[in-house]
Amino acid sequence: MAGHEATILFVGDVVGSVGRRTLLGLLPQLRERHAPDFVVVNGENIAGGLGITPKLADDLLANGVDVITLGNHTYQRKEIGPYLDSDKPIVRPANFLAAQPGRGSVVVERNGVRLGVLNLQGNVFLQSGRHMFSEADTSVAKLEREADHVLVDVHAEATSEKVALGWHLDGRVTAVVGTHTHVPTADARVLPGGTAYCTDVGMTGPRGGVIGVKKEQAIASMRTHMKVRFETSEDDPWLMGVVIRAAAEPRRATAIEQVLEPWRPGPRAAAGS
Ligand code: FE2
Repeated sequence: MAGHEATILFVGDVVGSVGRRTLLGLLPQLRERHAPDFVVVNGENIAGGLGITPKLADDLLANGVDVITLGNHTYQRKEIGPYLDSDKPIVRPANFLAAQPGRGSVVVERNGVRLGVLNLQGNVFLQSGRHMFSEADTSVAKLEREADHVLVDVHAEATSEKVALGWHLDGRVTAVVGTHTHVPTADARVLPGGTAYCTDVGMTGPRGGVIGVKKEQAIASMRTHMKVRFETSEDDPWLMGVVIRAAAEPRRATAIEQVLEPWRPGPRAAAGS
């Protein structure tokens, strides 16, 4: 490995136990194919579609995930609060209120390369306590000094907000990758300043549902405007993410490639899960 070269596998929002099985089932072959030095996973939907528990976070970290990022469902499960304040490599959006548990960035080291992971959340249609762009500037200035590469997970509803952040940070971070909408966008590329960018990497979960929910329930809710209980769909699970090739030069990327992979477990894997 020359200079600070490294490969980062970033996996989009893992939805429920079906998403967890899909991630852990596909990770060995993705490791073989892409040889990532770092695996970063957005885990804010892993507990039944909403939030994350300490047990589920520990399970991801024990199974080869280096850093977990979160988003608007961070505090859905109360027991995660103290866990976010521990030294585990799990981050919630940096632009939440300072009083909310957890921190917005972490630095991990693998194979002699230090990767800073920063989580941000958009201000459009989401409850983010503070402004995303000003927090991005503050956090990136800090991570520049602490890490060789910086990956930003921008958890946001509006594509325009994510595109703007990508341009704003171009040339200052290794990658800006979007999460939250659960639908992958076809715009992965390295921007002129050397920052790998993708508006939304998609989700790791059931493509046969409506962004994770059983399609019949989502349709019924939209058709009738009546209260409908939502359950996580199990239909047609896929892993969605990106592989980023981080350059020898600090905080620059040479390539970004989309990963869209169906999970087709054999009968034994399906029965044992
Ligand atoms: Fe979200």
